[in-house]
Amino acid sequence: MTNLTQTVREIALEQPHSIRVFERFGIDYCCGGRKPLAEACAEKQIAMDEVVAALEAAVNSEAPLPVDWSQATLRKLIDHIVATHHAYVKSELPRLAVLAQKVVNRHGDTQAHLLAMQSLLVLLDDELIHHLGKEEHVLFPYIEKLEGALLSGGAHPEACFGTIESPIGMMTSEHEAAGAMLAEIRRLSDNYTTPVGACPTYHAYYDGLQEFEQDLHQHIHLENNLLFPRAIAMEAAGVGVTA
Ligand SMILES: [Fe+2]
Ligand SMILES: [Fe+2]
Repeated sequence: MTNLTQTVREIALEQPHSIRVFERFGIDYCCGGRKPLAEACAEKQIAMDEVVAALEAAVNSEAPLPVDWSQATLRKLIDHIVATHHAYVKSELPRLAVLAQKVVNRHGDTQAHLLAMQSLLVLLDDELIHHLGKEEHVLFPYIEKLEGALLSGGAHPEACFGTIESPIGMMTSEHEAAGAMLAEIRRLSDNYTTPVGACPTYHAYYDGLQEFEQDLHQHIHLENNLLFPRAIAMEAAGVGVTA
């Protein structure tokens, strides 16, 4: 039974099936998920009854349950994020860039929104690749060391920043910026609606962008709602600090 006083983020954490429902209704469960479901539905002008019915149908469905990462070690969660979502971003952005260029070459002179979308995609590529590098080379190794100290009772790891909240704050605002760029791409494409008679490349481009946005939401959900709060709590508990 869906608890209507919970935030969207809390529902996504407790009921992993709900993520598919939130994607279908366009409800933000990652960067903007800290609001009650009723408020999120009102903002999107969606009937809450419909969303609640879909959530309950999802919970009762036979579809395989997504992995519950709330019980995994942070190292396993990081391995999953890097192997699945970071690898996908790195392989998909160049493919989308090729599709964007082909569609612009063919239709850019009559469809100005394609040029605006391509510029945003270039910017998104640049920002996301830097973002993934900071996570993989600075933040994630620190979180793994922090967890290692907890498990072994060892000393608190050295950090090149004050507290972990500092890089996490930076990563969270970069998530918001990336989410906003993709929301703008979605708006420019009229919710990824291809024109009548669009060629297969046009369809592949819009389908690819839509999948990319959904994957990024799941990626950000795992970081903002699971990995980061657990890492902050671990550091705040004074893990492994020697007196
Ligand atoms: Fe990431
Ligand atoms: Fe991230």
